[in-house]
Amino acid sequence: MSEQIVILDFGSQYTQVIARRIREGQVYSSILPFDTPFSKIKALNPKGIILSGGPSSVFAKDAPLPDKKIFTLGVPVLGICYGVQLLAHFLGGKVERSEEREYGKGTLKIGDNKCALLKGLPKSIRVWNSHGDKMTKLPKKFKAVGSTENSNYAVIEHRAKRMFGIQFHPEVAHTPKGMTIISNFVHKICGCGKNWTMRSYIDQSVEDIRAQIGDEHVILGLSGGVDSSVAAALIHKAVGDQLTCIFVNNGLLRANEAESVQQLYGRNFKIKLQYENATAEFLRRLKGVTNPERKRKIIGNHFIRVFQQATKRAGKARFLAQGTLYPDVIESVPIAGNPAALIKSHHNVGGLPKNMKFELVEPLRCLFKDEVRVLGRELGLPKEVVDRQPFPGPGLAVRVMGEVTSKRLRVLRESDAIVIEEMRKSGWYYKVWQSFAVLLPVKSVGVMGDERTYEDSIAVRVVESRDGMTADWVKLPYELLETISNRIINEVNGVNRCVFDITSKPPGTIEWE
Ligand code: XMP
Repeated sequence: MSEQIVILDFGSQYTQVIARRIREGQVYSSILPFDTPFSKIKALNPKGIILSGGPSSVFAKDAPLPDKKIFTLGVPVLGICYGVQLLAHFLGGKVERSEEREYGKGTLKIGDNKCALLKGLPKSIRVWNSHGDKMTKLPKKFKAVGSTENSNYAVIEHRAKRMFGIQFHPEVAHTPKGMTIISNFVHKICGCGKNWTMRSYIDQSVEDIRAQIGDEHVILGLSGGVDSSVAAALIHKAVGDQLTCIFVNNGLLRANEAESVQQLYGRNFKIKLQYENATAEFLRRLKGVTNPERKRKIIGNHFIRVFQQATKRAGKARFLAQGTLYPDVIESVPIAGNPAALIKSHHNVGGLPKNMKFELVEPLRCLFKDEVRVLGRELGLPKEVVDRQPFPGPGLAVRVMGEVTSKRLRVLRESDAIVIEEMRKSGWYYKVWQSFAVLLPVKSVGVMGDERTYEDSIAVRVVESRDGMTADWVKLPYELLETISNRIINEVNGVNRCVFDITSKPPGTIEWE
């Protein structure tokens, strides 16, 4: 990772999007808290610095400010939104307080097509605004090179010092030509090559992993999900049989899941796989429990116990590998009014207990999810793994409403298998975020043949989402819903009613818990 762009995060909800766009341009980017000391930034030897947007005003008493020495580093700087206010604040411009935020679509008129940042753009482009205070005087030696309806200073530059400011957001999809601006900055202005590819990443990490692990042993908890699968494949490529994967069957997996994981990793990839069948004990502990939080706790705690025991059986290992991703690593910026900082996943169980004395191997620590998928493909993992829908750690327990018993799990599993099969057959499976069945704690009356029935109900949940934080229910074709419903009621013993969940998130959640 020789060349990189450093993004200082002032709390914008789009900071990660900037980082991802830069990486799409095959340049490595990292996100650092806004107050990272200059020495640390300098040590990274960045090819350029981006000051992100943020919800604050430079007038605020505790406005987030960067170490001002960054302006002396001599590398190109791009301020976006709040980042432009910072340029004004530090470099002799003037910002005026405005009570209202300018928010929404705008048109940028390019005033100077010699500006390196705007190369290759037509005379005017659509842009997305979201900013508060307004710049009324340019920083010293800066020039305006683009304007919008509301601002004469929509794009500003100090050509000699290679410093730029843009009031709108080039990183979001609502600025369709924004990628050109970002690419101009990182490639033309900062001079970065296109070195960040998953091919080169594999080579580099294989070396790093070998250097870290030496001839020691490493253990990895394989769930079958994208992250742990890709981590396993990558580490296996680096150290082969020094890796042991532990796969715990908690009895709450979907139809055929345990078999297909063993098939793929054990037999195809020849990864050493330790299969722990803990089904009976998990079910015993869940007996009689209906409260969703209790279920999660029981499952989480027992998983740790089983995993701990399993590591002992796996032999002496110094390292524990985890599929931690970049979004888990980025320190969130605690700025008042920053919604991104408030959204915390309530799902992460908090990792393994401290008394497990392992050193961590986290080869995906600097990757975003979409990069992990590309990496997985490069490593030869099949589409079913790489593009798999998310599946919660506590498994089907969050989809069996009420008590989890083996009979009720059987009903859910069979129904769920039909949902998955029909989604795949119709080509919808990979177009949605998640599609699954939920077993309701409701019996209702029906007729089958000449007989009255009184049986369970299944809800079908299909949602689209970008990241699981918000979601919409998917408007599936009626014919597909009809097939799913008919098949579940005809084929699954014990179900006589099927409903489709039309709740969005918020106010609903994706899982029923
Ligand atoms: P909710 O139900 O909160 O789910 O809208 C958002 C996303 O998170 C997944 N999810 C979980 N993942 N452990 C996990 O690893 C869990 O306990 C858990 N609960 C929900 C859910 O499937 C959705 O993608």
